[in-house]
Amino acid sequence: MGFRKTVMEALCAVMAVSMIAQPVEAKAAEGLEGESIYQIMVDRFYDGDPSNNATGEAFRNTENCEDDFRYMHGGDWQGIIDKIDYIKGMGYTAIWISPVADPQLWGMPDSNGTQWPTAYHGYNVYDPNRANRYFGAEDEQASKEKLRELVNVCHQNGIKVILDVVPNHVGDYLQGTGSNAHYIDNTSSLKSGTQVQPTAPFNVISWYHNLGDIDFTQELPHNSYSNAMLESHDLGGLDDIDFDNPEAKQAVFDSIKYWIDYTGADGARVDAAKCMSPETIHELEEYIGVPTFGENFDMNVDFVSQWVGDNGESGMLDFPLFQAIVNDFAHGQNFDNTDEISLKTIFDQDYMYGDNANQMVTFIDNHDRNRFLTEAGGDVYKMQNALAFIYTCRGIPTVFQGTEQNRGNANCQIINGIADTWNRWDMQTKDYDGNVVADYFNTSTDTYQLISRLNTLRREYVALREGTQREMWSSPHYYAFSRRMDDGDDEGQEIICAFNNSYDTISNTMQIRAESSIAAGTVLENVFDSNDTVTVSATRTVTVSVPGNSYKIYKIAEDQPEVEYADVTFTIQNASTYWGQSVYLVGNCDALGNWNTSLAVGPASCPDYPTWTVSVSLPIGETIEFKAIKKDGNGNVTWENGNNHSYTVPSEGGNCIIQWN
Ligand code: NOJ
Ligand code: NOJ
Ligand code: CA
Repeated sequence: MGFRKTVMEALCAVMAVSMIAQPVEAKAAEGLEGESIYQIMVDRFYDGDPSNNATGEAFRNTENCEDDFRYMHGGDWQGIIDKIDYIKGMGYTAIWISPVADPQLWGMPDSNGTQWPTAYHGYNVYDPNRANRYFGAEDEQASKEKLRELVNVCHQNGIKVILDVVPNHVGDYLQGTGSNAHYIDNTSSLKSGTQVQPTAPFNVISWYHNLGDIDFTQELPHNSYSNAMLESHDLGGLDDIDFDNPEAKQAVFDSIKYWIDYTGADGARVDAAKCMSPETIHELEEYIGVPTFGENFDMNVDFVSQWVGDNGESGMLDFPLFQAIVNDFAHGQNFDNTDEISLKTIFDQDYMYGDNANQMVTFIDNHDRNRFLTEAGGDVYKMQNALAFIYTCRGIPTVFQGTEQNRGNANCQIINGIADTWNRWDMQTKDYDGNVVADYFNTSTDTYQLISRLNTLRREYVALREGTQREMWSSPHYYAFSRRMDDGDDEGQEIICAFNNSYDTISNTMQIRAESSIAAGTVLENVFDSNDTVTVSATRTVTVSVPGNSYKIYKIAEDQPEVEYADVTFTIQNASTYWGQSVYLVGNCDALGNWNTSLAVGPASCPDYPTWTVSVSLPIGETIEFKAIKKDGNGNVTWENGNNHSYTVPSEGGNCIIQWN
């Protein structure tokens, strides 16, 4: 558990078991480590209640052209309730849903005087304290009850709910900058229903920075200057809250805390984290009492990690790893390339996350990125390989809705820059009149089934949720690692995973990690195919062959072969010149402690001096390297015979003679 935990919080967590409503502090202490998340863009999921749909121009059924994706499509919270079995069937433990506050329906005119709808995604907020009327209901009370009902239904089904929260900004209303900042007062040329300011108390101009847009050409290098610029300017026009203003800060924090408290939601995804200081978001996390993970759309581990940990959040969206996954799994680049973002370069920097690497939220794409399948040129095997990867590597795997349907961007084209149209298709494609022409709630696709198996696997093996990750192999097209529980009740549980991102089968013989407790002779079993086993060699290596664009995941097999032992007598001859000092045998096998344990052979047990003997039980068939050493009274090795001897233990046991001099 990487999440900070005070004694008091730990106590609450224990007490909470017997309470009906869990105290908020307990939830924060638990963190999100171990969850697996399904990301839902509510408007694009399922229309469970057409009565709340936007009417008129702001609404479209079709997805025929890019603009169609900028309008409301009708999905809502009832739709998630209706489809809870579909989500549960994949085995997710949590969902992350689009922002819940009431959104700004129409944006202000762009430079051509055109107004675009902004409400469907929810990031442009109108009333932070009111539940989204298009996701819930027009009636304010009924709307928030629907949200609470959604959380309850999820909880009844064993699924946690993570709210997307947007503290950094509201929608885009303010015109001009500095002392010239103002809300539009002449609304005659605007679309009817255009909201020209957020609701009170958020319509106080001094609550905002009013410095104009972030200049992303000045974002790098990351330093105090560029960080200050990100914090104090508008993200694409979105009116930027000034957290140095105590009333503004309190109002924002309270609005978010309200939704968490009212609904009983379990965590928050914090939008646009890099536009707020780690300290501010840390305070927010403490205040709302649930774990949070922020969004820093940034591939630099050093930068992202500044928001992680005891002075930041419990985790962050893992954009650096995401970029490595696209490079390596979708584009087939080298896993161990040290000049570019690769698995190797990213995992080598995991130390920057301290104890929180397992709280990083991993993903292969999202609502702002091209669908992975399109990045992978439509190759479903590559996508499934990447999915198996995020389900086995450290972190909290998160999958964007629809991935399970083997569908990339709706136009099958790469979108340059921010992807926020063709990747956001509806789980039901409709014609102009709203008739369903394609339904993507298919539970029998191979990827739906794979995700279900992967979620079952993670539930079964705590090592995949909380274990330490250690590299076992890094080469251009083959990367392998172990996940191991180093302490606790499951100490020693270990899963070994290998990935191939080329088209050819690759086999490697890898050393079991020194930290591992897997012994020579242990049989490892493919978690998805009990007929596929590999045996750890006497020198603790394991050979794993991985087909092209695929993976192998091995656990320690439940049935291990019975090891039979036979007695071997070692005889050491001609030790005359060294009598009086202790002589020992050491051997390179588990039974002889891998050079660490020594068996005393003389002089205590030497009735036949100068010939000393020692008998020991050893595994039949194992080839053992051994040598004789001598120690002084302090246990220091003062001599060892130059030649190592090798002996294969016969089934009837036997004698092994070693010449002392
Ligand atoms: C990041 C979100 O993921 C994106 O979709 C949104 O538009 C911006 N933040 C602004 O809120
Ligand atoms: C507006 C929305 O589509 C939002 O979700 C997106 O992230 C931003 N534009 C950035 O392009
Ligand atoms: Ca609806």
